[in-house]
Amino acid sequence: MEKKFRPVAVNVENLYVEIEGKTILEDINLKIYRGEIVAVVGPNGGGKTTFLKTLLGLINPTRGRVEIFRKPPKEAVKGHLVGYLPQKVNFKRESCLSALDVVLLGLWYKDLPKEEKVKRALQTMERFGVGHLAGERFSNLSGGQQQRVNLARAVVGEPKLLLLDEPTTGIDFPGQQSFYELIKALRDEKGFTVIMVTHDVGVVWRYVDKAVCINRRLHYHGEPQAVLRPEILKLVYETDVVPLFHQH
Ligand SMILES: Nc1ncnc2c1ncn2[C@@H]1O[C@H](COP(=O)(O)OP(=O)(O)O)[C@@H](O)[C@H]1O
Ligand SMILES: [Mg+2]
Repeated sequence: MEKKFRPVAVNVENLYVEIEGKTILEDINLKIYRGEIVAVVGPNGGGKTTFLKTLLGLINPTRGRVEIFRKPPKEAVKGHLVGYLPQKVNFKRESCLSALDVVLLGLWYKDLPKEEKVKRALQTMERFGVGHLAGERFSNLSGGQQQRVNLARAVVGEPKLLLLDEPTTGIDFPGQQSFYELIKALRDEKGFTVIMVTHDVGVVWRYVDKAVCINRRLHYHGEPQAVLRPEILKLVYETDVVPLFHQH
């Protein structure tokens, strides 16, 4: 669809966030259109997680405007329009939650019979290649399996916007690729909008429509091939060591 006819999913204007007197985000302006997959990159401490939390209404802007589907973030979240996969999902190691229990958490608010919830949860798990693990203890799964289960929890309620904070941390390179392929396939199928924080700059450019660099300010945004270039990453990450681009 032509961009100009596409509805705006996320609108950020002149956003400032201060925490304890420190400016974390400064004058961020950004529009994300419905159905886009956007990668957010930038150095640690650059404010990426803070940015996602602002979109979730967990952090209030000091100044500026944030709209999710033309609503204030808190309203969008209340209406279950937003799915979130936090940077760290902490279930206690000794927790006896099964993988299925974790996915069911994503449906807690739905007024559906238990059997229907289980059916939907299992369908989503199948789709993500973790259906056979439904009865396993979540804490016994590998990092990659846990992330697929967590992703299933975030999408099982069919949100319109999915926010993923470093979803492939601890996952090997082939695992990263298949994770991003899954995200892209889901977007193509369901048409939802995805914003994901990532350091996999050598991989994600194949899967995203737009890339954004955040280091307090929004530095670059646009086509991933244009943004995720070594010379730009050097500037944004303030280092000479930039990740290799995987060409295969
Ligand atoms: N709750 C908080 N209290 C104080 N400082 C915070 C808080 N959350 C984030 N910060 C600070 O905001 C900055 C950006 O953090 P964060 O958004 O987590 O960055 P990133 O996700 O890009 O690594 C850091 O300097 C961090 O110390
Ligand atoms: Mg972070």
